[in-house]
Amino acid sequence: KGVFEMEMVLRNFFLFLSKNKTLNKSAKKWGLKLGAKQVIPGVTIESAIEAVEKLNVQGLACTVDHLGEFVFNREEAIESADYCVRTLEAIANSGVNCNLSLKLTQLGLDIDRNLCRDNMKRILETAKKHNIFVRIDMEDYSHLDATLDILSELRREYTNVGTVIQAYLYRAERDVNDLKGVSLRLVKGAYKESPEVAIQDKEKVDENYLAIIKQHLLSGSYTAIASHDHNIIDKVKQFAEENDIPKTQFEFQMLYNFRTDLQLSIAKEGYTVRIYVPFGNDWYGYFMRRLAERPQNVAFAARGLLK
Ligand code: FDA
Repeated sequence: KGVFEMEMVLRNFFLFLSKNKTLNKSAKKWGLKLGAKQVIPGVTIESAIEAVEKLNVQGLACTVDHLGEFVFNREEAIESADYCVRTLEAIANSGVNCNLSLKLTQLGLDIDRNLCRDNMKRILETAKKHNIFVRIDMEDYSHLDATLDILSELRREYTNVGTVIQAYLYRAERDVNDLKGVSLRLVKGAYKESPEVAIQDKEKVDENYLAIIKQHLLSGSYTAIASHDHNIIDKVKQFAEENDIPKTQFEFQMLYNFRTDLQLSIAKEGYTVRIYVPFGNDWYGYFMRRLAERPQNVAFAARGLLK
C-alpha cells in the first residue's frame, strides 16, 4: 500500500509540474535537459527524420510529433501549422515510412476553433498530396468534445485523419461506437482527470481498455493499440487470432525508446509496430507526463542525465 501511495504522490507531482506554464516556457530555451534526451531524439526535423530512418531499417513504422502545447496567440498557432506542413514535406522528401501526430491546442484550439480547423485543413491537404496519415492526439478532458467536433467536420472532406480515445474515460465505449470506421489509436489515458469523468482504479482502466480494443476490432475498424503493457499486447494478439482479425487491421504503437526489445520482437512476429517519435524544443509537458506514468521512468531519465 505504501508503494502504491508513493506512486500516486509522484504521479500527481509530475502531472502538476507538466501543467506549469512558466517552466514550460523556460524549458524551450534550455535545449533537451533533465534526461529528456532519453525519450526525445532531438529538437529539429532533421534529427527526427534521422531517428525515423534508423527505426525503419529495423522494421518499425513511425509517427512523428512536433511537440507543442499552450499556444496562446494566432501567430503561434499558424506558425505551428506551418511547421507541421514542413514536417510532412520532410517525410515525403526523405521517403521514410512515417505518419504525423499533432495536438489541436498547438493549432489554436483554445484561441479560435475556426482557426484551428483551417490550420488542420491546410495540414491535411499537404498530407493527402503525399499520402500521409495524420493522427490527432487526445489531450485532457476539457478538449475532448471540441476535438471530436473538429474531427467530424474534417472527416467530411478527408479520410487520412483519425484520433485517440482514452480508456480511463467512462464515455470511451460510446465514443468508440460513434467512431466506427474511423482509424483510432486506443490508449489508457495520460492526464489527471476527476472521478466524475474518469475511472481511477488501474485494473478497471485495463479492463475498459481491453473492452474498447475488442469493440473497435470487431466493428472491422482499423485499430492502433498504443501501450507498453505486455499483458494487454498478449491479450490483443490472442483475441485477434481467435476472431480471425487480420494483422492488416491493427497495429501496436509504442513511444520512442520505450521497451525497444518488445518493439522489435513484436515486429518480428509480423505485426505492424509504429513508434511515436516526438521532437522539438517544447519537450517539457511531454516529458513530465512520461515521468508521471511510471516512477521507474525517473530512474530511466536519471540514467540519461549521467550520459
Ligand atoms: P502502463 O503504464 O499502465 O503499464 C502497465 C505495465 O506495463 C507496467 O506495470 C509494466 O509491467 C509494463 N510497462 C509499462 N511501461 C514499461 C516500460 N517502459 N518498461 C518495462 N515495462 C513497462 N495518452 C493520451 O492521453 N493521449 C494520447 O494521444 C496518447 N498517445 C499515445 C501514443 C502512444 C504511441 C503511446 C504508447 C501512448 C500514448 N498515450 C496517450 C499515453 C497512454 O495514455 C498511457 O499513459 C501510457 O501509454 C502508459 O500506459 P501503458 O498502456 O503503456 O501501460
